[in-house]
This record gives sequence, structure tokens and C-alpha cells, in this order.
Amino acid sequence: MMEKITDENNVLQMMEDLQENNLARQVEEGKGPRRFFIQTFGCQQNENDSEKLAGILLAAGFTQALDYSDADIILINSCSIRENADDRLFGHLGILKKQYEDSGRQLVVGVCGCMVTRPQLVEKIKRSYRHVKILLTPQQIHELPAKLHRVFIERKSALETSMEERIVEDIPQARERKFRALVSIMYGCNHFCTYCVVPFARGRQRSRRAGEIIREVQGLAAEGFSEIMLLGQNVNAWGLDSGHKALKFARSRGEAELLKVAKAELSPETFPELLAALAQIPGIKCIRYMSPHPRDFTAQMVSCLKLFPEVESRLHLPLQSGSDKILKDMNRGYDLESFRQLVNACREVRPELALTTDIIVGFPSETESDFEATLAAVEEFKFQSAYTFIFSPRPGTRAAKMPELPADVTQARFKRLLELQNALTYDSYKALLGSTREVLVEGPSKQQPGVYTARDHAFHLFNLSLPPNRDWEGERLMIKVSEARPFSAEAELSRVLSA
Ligand code: 5AD
Ligand code: SF4
Repeated sequence: MMEKITDENNVLQMMEDLQENNLARQVEEGKGPRRFFIQTFGCQQNENDSEKLAGILLAAGFTQALDYSDADIILINSCSIRENADDRLFGHLGILKKQYEDSGRQLVVGVCGCMVTRPQLVEKIKRSYRHVKILLTPQQIHELPAKLHRVFIERKSALETSMEERIVEDIPQARERKFRALVSIMYGCNHFCTYCVVPFARGRQRSRRAGEIIREVQGLAAEGFSEIMLLGQNVNAWGLDSGHKALKFARSRGEAELLKVAKAELSPETFPELLAALAQIPGIKCIRYMSPHPRDFTAQMVSCLKLFPEVESRLHLPLQSGSDKILKDMNRGYDLESFRQLVNACREVRPELALTTDIIVGFPSETESDFEATLAAVEEFKFQSAYTFIFSPRPGTRAAKMPELPADVTQARFKRLLELQNALTYDSYKALLGSTREVLVEGPSKQQPGVYTARDHAFHLFNLSLPPNRDWEGERLMIKVSEARPFSAEAELSRVLSA
């Protein structure tokens, strides 16, 4: 087991130094850069990392640019989960390189995120994209102040990368959204699914301390957030960093411990217990979490859904495949029957549960009948929605060494899956017609001007027109569902719940 380093003072100290020295002002006096732009690819963990990068830059005196062309420092927070993500990064770097050469401006480009953990990509960046002055792995976010200092004050590149696994608290965060706060509770993953690059890119699992998480959420509630999203690559393995022994311990915990945690007689040691503790914080109305793994889903988690209405009524449970053979080849650690039992148990205690999932099509050993088992599972579980992916070989993973399926076979399967799932998603919205529901307004719709999007406890998406007299973002409303669309529903305002 790897030693866990928890570093409390470094970042605070560094931030104080940066603020005292006001790096951006020094830079500005020298007619240098002072506006930043961050482009984020990939998962919500990356979004949360970008909020931290932005928090550090703001604390150092930089201001946020509206887009690329207005920025003096551009950070690209990259993702490496699938191959097209690599292509997109290099496409972007190419455009920036041209901009940099054409404008004659002093532009600093930094690349952060999972791709920076891959030595070949780092070499390629160093070789071909010399305008990149900062490299930062996900494990190095807290090093941004030092790297800014090196680039802007010492006028040198800051390209050293490290994957030392540590947890750094107290990094300032510039929260992107007003309505839902992202809270990372664990980093890395111990599972090694055979297709997945995460354990290589983000390292072994390490959990934040319960006290730190509770303190953060209390602060968020005091700021007015009523909804939080707990993040982790394998979020329900929180606290179980020591693997099988810890999972055995988690399986021995039940309702009694949950109730004790809720009464603050016990401090949380498992994920459901953490949820129980967070559900007690006044003002927190909805706790979301992404993504739990079926193999770490305990009976105590089912009790948690029964006891604490603050825990969201959506369950995002990645199935990946409906074939036991493929699940085995993927090293997922469960079979279809145990997934079924889990879903049934959760639906029994929370009948309104909206089940969502991730599915990979075209895993190398997938036969036609394996794929049909996936279709049958999708039909059986009636997922409210699914993120569907075409298998993408990732360097270093076991599945990348297996011969790939022909692209036309995979594409045809993918299309069939998508058609089935889209019909199920449409059905799920039709089933809500006429119902009255509590929602949280997310913000103006990107597609329709004057229309806002909102979500209920189960994460269904609604569009509704609201009077233009105020900023509705983050408001709680009662709505009535009036019309189903394929991926959302139209609704009308019944009542405003929060002022
Ligand atoms: N190819 C395709 N999909 C993948 N995912 C992870 N790795 C790969 C890969 N190599 C999908 C899984 C996971 C989601 C976040 O991304 O479905 O749950
Ligand atoms: Fe990847 Fe599997 Fe870990 Fe999820 S559980 S991050 S899919 S290795």
C-alpha cells in the first residue's frame, strides 16, 4: 500500500505569498500577461480541478478572460479516457500555436490533466509545441503557484511532471456554478478495469478525510448552495483505500451505524455513512454522487437510500456490458445477476429512482450474442439515460493488447444500442407528463432564448419559460410537466419555493 501524504500548510503558505506579491500586478507592470482562460475536457473531476486552477489564478491576481483570443495565459485541462480526446488536445494546441506565432503576443500555454501523465505525449508536447510553458498532472494542481512564479517572474518553462500521490486541502476554488457545488472526496482508482486508463493517469485510490469534506460542505451550505455533487472515480469506495479488507469492513456496517453517524455519535467511515453525515447539514437538500461502482455498492448504501431523502433519487450505476463473459474480461467484479439484485433492492426502497448507466460497445472480445445480452439488459433495466461509448484502446491497458473488432461492426452495434436507449429515455419523460415536481433551476437554456433548464431530485431535465425579472439560477420551484421531448420535458411554473 502506498504511503498517503496529506499536505495542509503548503498551499495556504504559497497562496499567501502569491497574494502578497500580487504576481499578476508584477507581470502587468512589466507589460506582461494577466488574463487567463481555462478549457476543460472530460469528466466532472476535471471540471472540479479546473475550478481549483481558476481559484489559484484569481488568488494570484489574474482575471478571467472571456475566451481564448482575449487571454494571456491559456490552460488546457486535458482528458485521456478515450482516443478522440488525444486528437482534440493536439488539434487545440495546433490552433494555439498558430495564434501565438501570428499575434506576436506573449502567450503562455499550459497543459494540465490526465494526458500529462503519459510520457510519450509529454515528449510530443515538448518536441512539437514549444509555446507550451507549463505542464501539470492532476496530482500537481497545488504546484500551479510555484509554476506561475517560475514562468512569469523567472521567465523559464515549468515542464517538470510528477505523479506523487498526495491529497492537498485548502486549494481555493472558483466555482463554475451557483446551483450545484462539485466536491471531490477521493482521487484515483484501485480497480483496473481492463479498458480503463484512470488508475494509470490518476494513480491509486486515496480518500479525503471525513472532517475536511464535512467542513467544506458546511461552508458551501453557508454560502447558499443547496445541492452538492460528490465526485470520485469510484465514489462509493470512499474510505476503503486499503482494498478487500476495507470492503469486508464496509459490508459489516448497516443501518445502526448510519443512524449513529446521523446523530453524530460516530464519525463516518464508509461512503453511505459520509452521506448520512452530510445529509444532516442544514440547507443541504440534495446530495448527488458520481460514479459509484456496483462492486463496492453495499447493503448499507441501500439503507442509506431508504433513510435519507436528501440523497438523490438518481442512481448512476455503470453496467458497461450485459454479458457476464465481457464483464469478466473487463475485470468489473460483478455479474448481471448481482447487478440486477442491487437495482431491485434500491428500487424497492426508493420506487421513484431514475437509473442511469455507462455502456461500452465493441469491447475486443464482444460477440454478437454478448452484444445482444447488453441490449436485453438495457431493455430489462429501463435505464432513464445512458452514456454510451465505443471501445477505445488506451495505451498501457490490458484490453489495448487484444485484437480490435472491425469498425463497421462496432458502429452498427452502437447505432442499435443508441436507438433502443433513446426510445427508453423518451418513454421516461412521457411517464412524467402531468406530474408536479420540485426542481432546481440550472440557468438559461443554451438552445432556446428566454427558456431556463431545471432538474428534479432524480436529475430529469426540464425546460420552462420564466419571467425575465430576475436571475433564476439556483432557485427552487414547483413545476408541472406539460410535454415530453426525446431528452427532456417542457414544464410550467406552479410556485416559487425559494426567494
Ligand atoms: N473506451 C471506451 N469507453 C471507456 N470508458 C472508460 N474507458 C473507456 C475506453 N477505453 C467509459 C466507461 C466509463 C466512462 C467514464 O467512460 O463506460 O464508465
Ligand atoms: Fe476506470 Fe474501472 Fe476505475 Fe472506473 S472503476 S475509473 S472504469 S478502472
